[in-house]
Amino acid sequence: MRCPAPWSLVLFAFIAMALPCVSRGVKAQSPELAITPPMGWNSWNHFKEKVTDADVRAAADAMVASGMRDAGYVYVIIDDSWEGQRDAQGNIHSNRKFPDMKALGDYVHSKGLKLGIYSSPGPKTCGGYEGSYGHEQQDASIYASWGVDFLKYDLCSYMDIMKLHDPRQDPKKALVMMQAAYRKMHEALLNTHRPIVYSLCQYGVDSVWEWGRQVGGDMWRTTDDISDNYRSMALIGFSQAGLEKFAGPGHWNDPDMLEIGNGGMTADQYRTQMSLWAILAAPLLAGNDLSKMDETTKGILVNKEVIAVDQDELGIQGSRVGPPQIWMKPLSGGAKAVALFNYVIDDEAEPLTLKFKDVGFSGSVHARDMWAHKDLGILHDSYTATVPQGGVVMLKVWQ
Ligand code: GLA
Repeated sequence: MRCPAPWSLVLFAFIAMALPCVSRGVKAQSPELAITPPMGWNSWNHFKEKVTDADVRAAADAMVASGMRDAGYVYVIIDDSWEGQRDAQGNIHSNRKFPDMKALGDYVHSKGLKLGIYSSPGPKTCGGYEGSYGHEQQDASIYASWGVDFLKYDLCSYMDIMKLHDPRQDPKKALVMMQAAYRKMHEALLNTHRPIVYSLCQYGVDSVWEWGRQVGGDMWRTTDDISDNYRSMALIGFSQAGLEKFAGPGHWNDPDMLEIGNGGMTADQYRTQMSLWAILAAPLLAGNDLSKMDETTKGILVNKEVIAVDQDELGIQGSRVGPPQIWMKPLSGGAKAVALFNYVIDDEAEPLTLKFKDVGFSGSVHARDMWAHKDLGILHDSYTATVPQGGVVMLKVWQ
């Protein structure tokens, strides 16, 4: 298990901020594939290894019925635990929980949605299921035949291969091997001639944001696994400061999936995750049981104003502009999304003040509260809002 100490994420944030800008390598399959941050649902956060074909179909149904599909959520991603055995020819088969992957893919597509799947460059996945090591092209071709549109490729036991190959564990050699493993699957996906979004998952080691694009990634996890509690979410989300220069249309930093609706945080804290992920132009992958979500959860996940921030066509990842946690993302047309987070949860609801000059505006501005869905009219110099504990006030500001 990878359970980083909180200080490691803080340290990570400082290291990230100090990183130099590096040159960009080859593009992924097609820049159109993830021209805005991918949106959808992933089975892991709620279902873990219990997910079944029926759960995935129910998620697809709920994505349509809840209005999520029409709000932009499209990928229905089966995470770890679908894998069965290989046959004598080495072809991978799904296990008993997933009796017919092609039929499942057809079902998902019939709803106007896309299918995602999960594997590892190692012999085993993180859950101990069959990985793609030595079968990369075969697996990519089989995924394509099932109608797969998205692959999450999780390092897991490939770390053991790296150690076996170089017992002295020279970090440079390890990096070269890891990059080669990710590039290999990218090439296998390309050979299928099916557009498949390629999501790298190796927990942000070796500054993947510097080279993820060069090995064909459309997005890459920047951190260890998120958990359904405020501390985990906030440490991950706020530690993304400094990574903004590595994201843009077709290539996204991924601070892991949403926990909204899973029960471990308050509605205010879940609004913080939705707002922060949107400011970060992060992939929005819901991770709750969509078939059982309440109105509050739905309201957070389908807030179209906040989704529009995430999906803005400029594709600029927002950044922290001021202490303690005021974040800003430039939007097309000259507007800016600004989020004021009251991130210290043992404090009371707190008045926080945004000075418009701190986000690049002089003179009066128009503002709209994106959670209250309310125009605030014309404002001068600054705006003070009372922000709940662990919560957020998110504004669109323009002139
Ligand atoms: C790793 C990943 C998770 C999930 C599990 C599945 O921990 O980081 O997101 O995919 O593996 O085993």
